[in-house]
Amino acid sequence: MPGLLVADSLKAYYFTKRAVVRAVDGVSLEAEDGSVLAVVGESGSGKSTLGVALAGLVKPPLRIAGGSVYFKGRDIYAMGDEELRSIRAVGLAIVPQFAMDALNPTARVRDLIRDIIASHRDSLPIDEEDVYRRAQERALQIGLPKWVLDRYSVELSGGMRQRVTILLSTLLNPEVLILDEPTSALDVVVQRLVIQYLQDLMAERAVKSMVFITHDIATARQIATEMAVMYAGQIVERGPAESVIGSPLHPYTKGLMSAIVEPGASIKRAKLEGLSGEPPDMANPPKGCRFYPRCRYRMPICEREEPPEAEVGGIKVKCWLYAGKT
Ligand SMILES: Nc1ncnc2c1ncn2[C@@H]1O[C@H](COP(=O)(O)OP(=O)(O)OP(=O)(O)O)[C@@H](O)[C@H]1O
Ligand SMILES: [Mg+2]
Repeated sequence: MPGLLVADSLKAYYFTKRAVVRAVDGVSLEAEDGSVLAVVGESGSGKSTLGVALAGLVKPPLRIAGGSVYFKGRDIYAMGDEELRSIRAVGLAIVPQFAMDALNPTARVRDLIRDIIASHRDSLPIDEEDVYRRAQERALQIGLPKWVLDRYSVELSGGMRQRVTILLSTLLNPEVLILDEPTSALDVVVQRLVIQYLQDLMAERAVKSMVFITHDIATARQIATEMAVMYAGQIVERGPAESVIGSPLHPYTKGLMSAIVEPGASIKRAKLEGLSGEPPDMANPPKGCRFYPRCRYRMPICEREEPPEAEVGGIKVKCWLYAGKT
């Protein structure tokens, strides 16, 4: 069965005056019913750009430069604005990175909830009281006090605002939920609550599929069923989370994972410990494999030609070491 959300050779580039930044450059992935797909990668690898491109929220200077995104089999970039708007919040929702800083400061949380209800009342049978009740219950689940609904976002701490964005985005039970660094402002205890909350939503099938973007492998590991590793705008390895974490194939993933033994380890640290060199300039990436300059297994072909994606033991890996070894 095809995934609920499918990216096929997706390219999303920033067309700036100075350069074309190829932030997402040929990404294919599937978010399946019942799965939580973690997208991990170091800073600047294109995770957030992928997130907004998957959600259909591309704005200049970012443009779709190729490929497609399908939500339940329908190409979202072939949809009209109206149709795309109608699936927001109920079909395909996103909590963008830094969403907590973008909350309207002149609205109470209750007003934000009312706006969400109002924008879907025409297309959905919504019982307003039910939604507020659900908001109250769910607020408690993620450690937010009841009074939070009556406060303005400026009156809340960063961690509270971050949880409010999660609450708002899950309010109408979207089928697919994309979360971009959703726990970055939370301490470990609250982070656990939020992860548990998201897992409960999956178990209740209130949400059917999640894409969880993070640079923190320990957090990804707590929730992911599938994992995709991003490097310089591309996915170099994807498959069942346990396999990718426990027995990675791509030299980049191997470097990352070898450094990650204790909880709380992030890709930033892993980079320091397990990998030398820097990721490439995305305005001018290497011609062949993008990881080639840093790779200790590199071969002559890696410099010349982009590796194909091979499938080995359930993992899809974009590396010449595995080409033809399917
Ligand atoms: N508005 C923009 N104009 C030009 N380039 C941009 C813009 N926004 C992002 N980029 C570039 O696109 C690339 C990918 O950025 P992106 O924010 O998607 O990375 P990320 O993996 O989410 O990083 P982080 O872990 O820091 O959130 C980077 O090289 C970044 O500099
Ligand atoms: Mg980001």
